[in-house]
Amino acid sequence: MLAKGPVQTPQIDKLPPLPQSPYNRPLFPEGTPLVADKRYSCIGLYNPKSPENVGSVMRAAGCYGVASVFYTGKRYERAADFVTDTKRVHYDIPLIGIDDLKKILPLNCVPVAVELVDGARPLPEYTHPDRALYIFGPEDGSLDKEIRDWCEDVVYIPTTGCMNLAATVNVVLYDRMAKGLNTRSGPKFR
Ligand SMILES: C[S@@+](CC[C@H](N)C(=O)[O-])C[C@H]1O[C@@H](n2cnc3c(N)ncnc32)[C@H](O)[C@@H]1O
Repeated sequence: MLAKGPVQTPQIDKLPPLPQSPYNRPLFPEGTPLVADKRYSCIGLYNPKSPENVGSVMRAAGCYGVASVFYTGKRYERAADFVTDTKRVHYDIPLIGIDDLKKILPLNCVPVAVELVDGARPLPEYTHPDRALYIFGPEDGSLDKEIRDWCEDVVYIPTTGCMNLAATVNVVLYDRMAKGLNTRSGPKFR
């Protein structure tokens, strides 16, 4: 039998301190994961040049469900004509100009450099991260070593000679889609 008596509530100043977090975790029930178990991909374009390529990249982003597209440099301006984005994907998917791709890495997202370079891993054998930021070089250059070193992986497509920028984006996104749930965490990710 339960003893009757006043309910003992702990004094407010006796409660253990709440853990510090930038994400206001004390507001969420214990056990709430820091990030959702959801796959996504973003694209980073390093100093792209042609509006046609960026428009085609936007179109690919729409086709393959990319969350957002970032670009650096001044050569391509947002005001540029989206001649190749005939589906007007840039109305739906953010296209964001920034000064440094390293500054926009979303939480738990793995940066992957895509470049035809010695030491890169062949895309057909690659297991994609659950959340990936794929970074591509400019039409008239390559991703420099600094950004490749910052990326967790460097992958290449085993072509004879390099492809057009937008074509490369399509191939990488198609490869990700074709591998389905086979990202690093497997089917536990949605
Ligand atoms: C047109 S290519 C760059 C041109 C090239 N560096 C050259 O020799 O003039 C533009 C970008 O597409 C990507 N790319 C093209 N072909 C590729 C391939 N076979 N494997 C991986 N990335 C590729 C890279 O990100 C590259 O920086």
